[in-house]
Amino acid sequence: MLTRRTFLSGAGSLAAASLLPRSLPGALQPEQAVGSVDGAGSLRAHATARGLFYGAAVDTGMLRNDPAYRALLAQQCNIVVAENSMKWAAIHPEADRYAFEQADELLAFAEQHQMQLRGHNLCWHEALPSWFASTVNLGNARQILTGHIRTVAGRYQGRIRSWDVVNEAISLEDGRTDGLRVSPWFQMLGPGYIDLAFRTAREADPHALLTYNDYGIEYDHPASFTKRAAVMGLLKRLTADGVPIDAVGIQSHIDATTSGLGPGITAFVTEARTLGLKVFITELDVNDDNLAADDPATREAAVAEVYGQYVTAMIANPAVAEVLTWGISNNHSWLNNSKTHKAKHPGRQQQALPFDANYQPTPAFYALRSALDSRKG
Ligand code: XIL
Repeated sequence: MLTRRTFLSGAGSLAAASLLPRSLPGALQPEQAVGSVDGAGSLRAHATARGLFYGAAVDTGMLRNDPAYRALLAQQCNIVVAENSMKWAAIHPEADRYAFEQADELLAFAEQHQMQLRGHNLCWHEALPSWFASTVNLGNARQILTGHIRTVAGRYQGRIRSWDVVNEAISLEDGRTDGLRVSPWFQMLGPGYIDLAFRTAREADPHALLTYNDYGIEYDHPASFTKRAAVMGLLKRLTADGVPIDAVGIQSHIDATTSGLGPGITAFVTEARTLGLKVFITELDVNDDNLAADDPATREAAVAEVYGQYVTAMIANPAVAEVLTWGISNNHSWLNNSKTHKAKHPGRQQQALPFDANYQPTPAFYALRSALDSRKG
């Protein structure tokens, strides 16, 4: 159904492909870029053949309205996650009312196409509904947190492969020695809110892989190094205390200019594995806003290189079996949303994802597919 990208047949585009050094694992090899990208050529098929999961964050509005988007997701993913529809603000819009329609639709779509579903998320300092600030207080916070988790994780019990139970609980800027973010949940319940969330999630859905998910830990520069250490400190504390946690999610919002990806993150994966945890790449995208080049092909090539290097390095460790991108196609990426990202190049569409705005594969697609292929059996 999807045809191979036309950039390969244009002279300018061939020049772009050749910008990539051939020795890099993520480099686009011309011979890899021929042939079908659906069926046996899809990310889904390449992942499944190696016991891996590839998936994407789904905008449930687009899922309803865009049949080509639905088809692309079904073709490429063996796992999906809601970009926003399972967050508190979406699923719990009033204190005494839940709104499950969009999440239910995503689950039905996933089951119809034999895909797994990730849940995102049960406890976060963002995407809190408008009633939260005026309703939740020291006296009822515990009951409201556990009630929400019981209701949401309970509804989907047995049908979610992994839940992000707690999202982004570390913030060094908040000044605590343990690195914990001074979030509303922390302020009302103390550090134990994390334990409470995991224990409640385990009761509500004993089969889901319970995950701690965070960002800004991928690099070897000082801020990332310190945050990574704080996340590892939290994981050690939780496992030592017998808190039911199965996995750590590394969001992997990566910058295309980075030279800061080094051995630190793969050492973190190794350490997480020794704690008995699985490791998921949960929100991969590559931000090209810092690249000087306006030429889309040059930016696509740089993005593809990061995809290839990063995913190849990460999935070399057997603890990493899931790779999800935060969106699937460049027409819908949070990086292109001017409300959440102040772009340096506002007129430029980010080339952050494996498919372009016309649902044709980008160089990142081929780099990602080759990276999946590098998985040792
Ligand atoms: C983002 C969504 O992509 C946006 O649509 C929304 O406006 C804000 O949240 N880390 C997370 C995700 O865990 O939930 C965030 O998703 C991106 C950063």
